[in-house]
Order: sequence, then C-alpha cells, then structure tokens
Amino acid sequence: MSTSTPPAATAVRVRGLRRVFGARPVLDGLELTLARGEFLALLGASGSGKTTLLRILGALDGADGGEALVPEARTIVFQEPRLIPSKKVLANVTVGLPRGAATRATGLRALAEVGLERHADAWPATLSGGEAQRVALARALVREPELLLLDEPFAALDALTRLRMQDLVGELRRIHRPAVLLVTHDVDEAVRLADRVAVLRDGRLVTDEPVTVARPRDPGDPAFVALRRRLLADLGVHPSEEAPPHDPAPATVSPEGVLA
Ligand SMILES: Nc1ncnc2c1ncn2[C@@H]1O[C@H](COP(=O)(O)OP(=O)(O)OP(=O)(O)O)[C@@H](O)[C@H]1O
Ligand SMILES: [Mg+2]
Repeated sequence: MSTSTPPAATAVRVRGLRRVFGARPVLDGLELTLARGEFLALLGASGSGKTTLLRILGALDGADGGEALVPEARTIVFQEPRLIPSKKVLANVTVGLPRGAATRATGLRALAEVGLERHADAWPATLSGGEAQRVALARALVREPELLLLDEPFAALDALTRLRMQDLVGELRRIHRPAVLLVTHDVDEAVRLADRVAVLRDGRLVTDEPVTVARPRDPGDPAFVALRRRLLADLGVHPSEEAPPHDPAPATVSPEGVLA
C-alpha cells in the first residue's frame, strides 16, 4: 500500500484497500473518495471494519493491499478521549503541536471553541465524560487538520450530551472546514450531520450516497425518514427492531467507568 497526499480537490482517495486478519479479509477492495471539506458518515455493523479503516487512514495500521491517499495533516478522535492524565487540560490540547506553536494562547483559543477555557488548568480526571471528549476535539482541531477522523466520538455519552456534541461538531466543522470521516452506529446522527452517508459491509461500501435532506435537518422530515429507513435496511435492521426516532438512547458507562 502507498500513503501519500491526494490530488488538489481531494482529501481522501482509497482504491482497492485490503486488510486481512487471519483468513478473514475485513476490508476487501474498498473504494472511497472524499472531497476537501466534505463530511462523510460511515455506518456498519459491529466488526465490519470501520475502526480498521480509520486506523489505516490515520496511519496507525498498515494495509495488505490497495492504495490510500490522505493528507499529511490528519487527526483521529476515538470513542474514549485518551487524554494524558499527568498533563493539565491545556497541555493536553497543545501536546501535538510543534514546540513554537504550543503556546498558552493557542491552547486557550482551541478550548474556547469547545467552551472549556475555564478548565485550562484542570486535571483530566476532574472532567466529565462529555468535557473530556470536548478536550479531545480541541486537541484534534488545534492542529488544523485537513482530515478529521472520528471513531464513534459520542457513543459513550448520554443522549442529551450527544446531541450537544453533534451541534458542536457541526459548528466546528463550519469554522475549520476539514474533511470529516465520522464512524457512528447512530443512523440519525449520520443523517443529521453528514453530506454523504456510507455503509460498510463485507469489506466494501455497499451504500454511498449524498444526504439531500434540507438543513437544519429535522428527523421528522419525510426525506430524513426515508433515508433512515434505507440505511437501517442496508444495516440489516428490520422495522420491528427499530427504536422510535425520538427515543433517547440509554445512559452508558464510558471506558473510564464514568456514568455519562
Ligand atoms: N489487530 C487485529 N487482529 C486481529 N483481528 C482484528 C484486529 N483488529 C481488528 N480485528 C478484527 O477485524 C474485524 C473488524 O474490526 P473493527 O474494529 O474494524 O470493527 P468495527 O466495524 O470498528 O466494529 P465496532 O462497531 O464494534 O467498533 C473484527 O472482526 C475484529 O475482531
Ligand atoms: Mg470500531
């Protein structure tokens, strides 16, 4: 596999990507193109290879075949914030910056964007799950990535915090204009935020289509409802298993054991 910068108007170009674990090809000839500034939401059953794809695009893992062209400036946010416990919040935000750029002013500006400048001198352990994830977002965006990779960044949060985080990501996206690849299990989240939605199944994208629902997106809009139904069908979810659209998701416990 080769990894180098894609052509000018393109943020990501993946051709024939393969990743095999044991005898199983998890990614099997995957094709994906993402324009600069475009927002793609990627859905797929558990174990379908979404994280595997993100790890390859983030250069955290290699591929067994094919080609992935990604910008040099790219960052990943995972489901868990992965803050460094021995560094204060501000230092966590600026940790990836070159020495000269890692100033307090830069860190404070990034924290202000996620509404947490007052927590600059706090320790990560004192933050709530949602706050910690906002710090992780600030840490990712302070590097002005051309590609932002988000691997279920809201999955461990309660329903209300998740909606607020979705709004925040939408807002930050308008400010910074990175290309975004958001992995999520939440079909409504995908349709709410993305320019395009795709479903990963059997190692490839089986659905890859633009979201034409008018913004701001209303889950009750017939176009929203129709797309939700199509995506759920692609995911193999039958109508009887489908949660009502406005049902709040149950509270979950994050990997750190914090009740969200
Ligand atoms: N390092 C590894 N070694 C062996 N198998 C792996 C490795 N990483 C992932 N796999 C396997 O590859 C498959 C895809 O894993 P991946 O984590 O990409 O799925 P996913 O779509 O992100 O799932 P989820 O929605 O549960 O996060 C799984 O069957 C997983 O067990
Ligand atoms: Mg995953």
